[in-house]
Amino acid sequence: MPTALVTGAADGIGRATAERLVREGWSVLAADRDADRLEWAAQAGIASLVADISSETDNARMVAHMEARFGGLDALALNAGVTGGGSIDSLSMAAFERVVAINLFGPVLGIKAALPLLRCSKQPAIAITSSTMGLAGYAENWAYCSTKHALIGLVRALARELGCEGIRINALCPGPTRTGMTRAMEAVAPEHFAMLTQKVPLQRWADPDEMAAVIAFLVSPAASYVTGHAMVADGGAMVGTGLVGPRTATAPAIPLEIQT
Ligand SMILES: NC(=O)c1ccc[n+]([C@@H]2O[C@H](COP(=O)([O-])OP(=O)(O)OC[C@H]3O[C@@H](n4cnc5c(N)ncnc54)[C@H](O)[C@@H]3O)[C@@H](O)[C@H]2O)c1
Repeated sequence: MPTALVTGAADGIGRATAERLVREGWSVLAADRDADRLEWAAQAGIASLVADISSETDNARMVAHMEARFGGLDALALNAGVTGGGSIDSLSMAAFERVVAINLFGPVLGIKAALPLLRCSKQPAIAITSSTMGLAGYAENWAYCSTKHALIGLVRALARELGCEGIRINALCPGPTRTGMTRAMEAVAPEHFAMLTQKVPLQRWADPDEMAAVIAFLVSPAASYVTGHAMVADGGAMVGTGLVGPRTATAPAIPLEIQT
């Protein structure tokens, strides 16, 4: 049975990934720093561990747990992350350092800790959750955007460095997904939420399991020739800047004859 470590598994995309991998026959360790919300895993009979990905010691603990409990590690799903909204004037360096420590140092520490076990695997794969904000700029999100961009650089560089060992590494770039991270926005700023929805051709936010499906693919043998890739799952939001349907009477399509 293949084995996987999923971080940020207390909620949202991480929890959906852990649940999906278990359904697909993987032995999974669900890890998160939030002990209360991680309780779901123990209740579902899934191995879990409270750990902070920004800590080198905790990364070593997660990997040691994989070895002790499952005898190895085939897939590393580095999904935990935090938002870091705020303008360049308002966000403090201390806040930025925290975002970097979790969103960028966290995955780097995770990979460094896991490599010895991954090198023993017959199907070693790493999937890092970046974001569409890792591919494009977004006002008042410079801290988050810069860490998510950096993760894609990390994936591309390590794909070239580790490919000769058969270790694959890819990023998932989710678009707007209904999770704990975004539920607050829906409650506090419903107009902003609706505006973001309108920019998505599929006209809705994703369910976390739709992101889990992509992570599960990226770490599976089905993706055996895919490495160094930043896979976008965003309902089509990144493919253009033009109109999205459905058009309305207040935003009609421009007839071709008056476009010249
Ligand atoms: N929800 C979206 O719209 C969206 C879009 C693009 C990218 N993402 C990314 O997806 C990933 C998952 O986010 P989500 O939307 O499921 O949010 P979420 O808040 O539901 O889940 C994130 C989890 O990460 C955990 N976490 C945070 N810091 C941690 C740390 N230092 N150590 C261990 N665990 C920690 C949290 O406790 C939480 O359970 C994140 O990397 C996020 O940046 C989300």
